Amino acid sequence: MSQIPQAGSLAGPPPPQFPPHSLSNLLGKHIVLGLSGGIACYKAAELCRALVKAGAAVQVVMTEAAAQFITPVTMQALSGRPVYTSQWDAREGNNMSHINLSREADAIVVAPASADFMAKLLHGRADELLSLMCLARPMAQVPLIVAPAMNREMWANPATQRNVAQLKADGIHVLDVGQGDQACGETGDGRMLEADELLEELEAFFTPKRLAGQHVLVTAGPTYEALDPVRGITNLSSGKMGFAIAQAAWRAGAQVSLVAGPVGLATPRGVQRVNVQSAEQMWQAVQPLAQVATVFIAAAAVADWRQAQVATQKVKKDASGATPDLHFVENTDILASVARSGRAQSGALFCVGFAAESHDLQAHAQAKRLRKGVPLLVGNIGPATFGRDDNALLLLDEHTCEALPQAPKTVLAAQLIDRIAQRLNS
Ligand code: CTP
Repeated sequence: MSQIPQAGSLAGPPPPQFPPHSLSNLLGKHIVLGLSGGIACYKAAELCRALVKAGAAVQVVMTEAAAQFITPVTMQALSGRPVYTSQWDAREGNNMSHINLSREADAIVVAPASADFMAKLLHGRADELLSLMCLARPMAQVPLIVAPAMNREMWANPATQRNVAQLKADGIHVLDVGQGDQACGETGDGRMLEADELLEELEAFFTPKRLAGQHVLVTAGPTYEALDPVRGITNLSSGKMGFAIAQAAWRAGAQVSLVAGPVGLATPRGVQRVNVQSAEQMWQAVQPLAQVATVFIAAAAVADWRQAQVATQKVKKDASGATPDLHFVENTDILASVARSGRAQSGALFCVGFAAESHDLQAHAQAKRLRKGVPLLVGNIGPATFGRDDNALLLLDEHTCEALPQAPKTVLAAQLIDRIAQRLNS
């Protein structure tokens, strides 16, 4: 059993350094990155860099058309390996780069995949190295992931849509396209996903789908309870832990709904987000979702009280020095209310609570678990983690107490999702 997290000061000690690649599922993976012709080739340069940073070995293969948009020199510099552009490349001892390259790969990622390249894949054509290598890959061991990139009319064309459907039926992972301004000056669907979106898709691809078929509902961030139109009370919470949990649940194959208090964090890929301000709004947003979700993770720092009467105009200071009269009423305990519902009681909805404590973590967290009526409670020392990227957790259920030692919140989120999946499956 690892060490139980200790309370720290609000500022906390300097954050521990975690190498970026220690956070990634791509660490040690061998990715063959194929580029076919399209202006989105410039994004492939960013993707290559991000993959290397995540700890993957990247072998670039380019078509002749791709080399019109970006040079092999650029891709060699970013990947740190010579780029392959021809099936007649004599560098390979057996002169069979299409075989050798595909045998080493954990996945082949074609980004960008042009309309023409997808049509070639569909027909099993093999007149240049990239399509030849895709055809020659051992299908059972080396997945093929393609990121389409083209003009909106080309994307919408029935020929392309037919090809996409058939490629999917053939077991090829065809990623979504982005929407927006296109290099040709038109606007619509067909842009290649951005490098960070592609990276997230690949992270998800290599995550075991332990929550497939589950619908995970997460609350995250603080709530804000207005006192008047310009002032309010809130809790110290960055939302980072809740957002990391939503991301980890999506990567693990779940449908994810995220009810977020006021935080400035980007919505994790694939996650449905509902923004709220107050505890009451959070409660209103949670209720319908708790009717359909199968897992509820209450990571939000919900304000316990709200002002009974919110002033409609700004409360002004006067010369007397009198302080305002504040009267609070208690907010609904969202977690406890959901945990009491029929679905939670019948086991159709697995509820997970959080406890942000300042001291005596284990005792307070266990008491809170029983008080809230949840099977699993995650304890942490609030002041030691607020706003930071790392944390340490204590997982408590009826029989066990497991400490997850100090780590980035993204890592802890993946571990928590893993522990929840274990309990759902047992
Ligand atoms: N919670 C909630 N609704 C509330 C208050 C808390 O859903 N009105 C949830 C939190 O999201 C968390 C758990 O209950 O999962 C515990 O929150 P915490 O603030 O640690 O505990 P409280 O119930 O507020 O108890 P106390 O302030 O006395 O520690």
